[in-house]
Amino acid sequence: MTAQLNPRGDVAVLVPAAGAGVRLGPGGPKALRRLGGEPLLVHAVRRVAAAPSVHTIVVAAPPADTDAVRGLLAPIAAVTVVAGGATRQESVAAALVAVPAGPEIILVHDAARALTPAALVESVAAAVRAGADAVIPVLQVVDTVKEVSADGVVLGTVDRSALRAVQTPQGFRRAVLAAAHATAVDPLTDDAGLVEKQGVRVACVAGSEYARKITRPFDLALAEHLLIAAPAPEPP
Ligand code: CTP
Ligand code: MG
Repeated sequence: MTAQLNPRGDVAVLVPAAGAGVRLGPGGPKALRRLGGEPLLVHAVRRVAAAPSVHTIVVAAPPADTDAVRGLLAPIAAVTVVAGGATRQESVAAALVAVPAGPEIILVHDAARALTPAALVESVAAAVRAGADAVIPVLQVVDTVKEVSADGVVLGTVDRSALRAVQTPQGFRRAVLAAAHATAVDPLTDDAGLVEKQGVRVACVAGSEYARKITRPFDLALAEHLLIAAPAPEPP
C-alpha cells in the first residue's frame, strides 16, 4: 500500500542510496540488494514513510538506476528520486537541493540502515524540533577498543566509556545542513562531521540496534533474522 506522507509535516528525509556496496561483495548497488525478497532501499523508505512527521523523502539513487528506483518506490510512497554522486557527501548534496520549500528539519538517512524503525526517525526529528541544531543517534561501544599501529602492535587502550557508535538518521535544522554542505571541502562519512567543522553543537539521542548499517555479508545475513523480529510497519 502507498503511504501518505504528511503534507503538514515539518521533516524532509534525504536517503543516500547511490553507493556501490563494495564491502558487501558482487551483486550490484547495495541499496538494490535484496533482504527478505525486497531491496534494502524499499525496506528503508517504507520505515521512513511510516514516521508521521515526514513531509518529503528524497532518494539519491545510483545514476544508472534512477528510473528503476522510481518504479520500485512508487508503490511505497511519493518519493523524489535524484541521481547520486561519486561520494556519499555528493549524493547528500544532490538530494538536499531537491527538497522543496517548507520542511525546516532535514534528516539524512543511509539506505543501508534498512531496518531503522520509524520511531527513531521521530525521536531525531523531535530533538531538532525541541531546539537542537544537529542531532545524531548513538549506541554505547561494547567492545574493548585499542589503538593499534600499522604493523599490528598495540599502542594503548582507549577509554570506551566516552565512545559512541554513530548511526543515522542524523537530523539538522535546514539552514545548518545547507551551510555545512555549501562550505564542505573534504568528503566525510557523515553529515554531523560537516556541521562539527562549522563549530555547531551536535546533540545525541539513543540509537537503535535495528539501525545498524548493513555493510558486509554477515550484516545482511543478520538482517534476514532481524526482519522476522521487525516486520514492515503499517503505513500511517
Ligand atoms: N552512498 C551514496 N553515494 C555514494 C556512496 C554511498 O549515496 N557515492 C550511500 C550508500 O548507498 C549507503 C550510505 O551512503 O546507503 C552509506 O554508505 P556505505 O555503507 O559505505 O555504502 P556503500 O558505499 O554502498 O558501500 P561500500 O563503501 O562498501 O562500497
Ligand atoms: Mg561507502
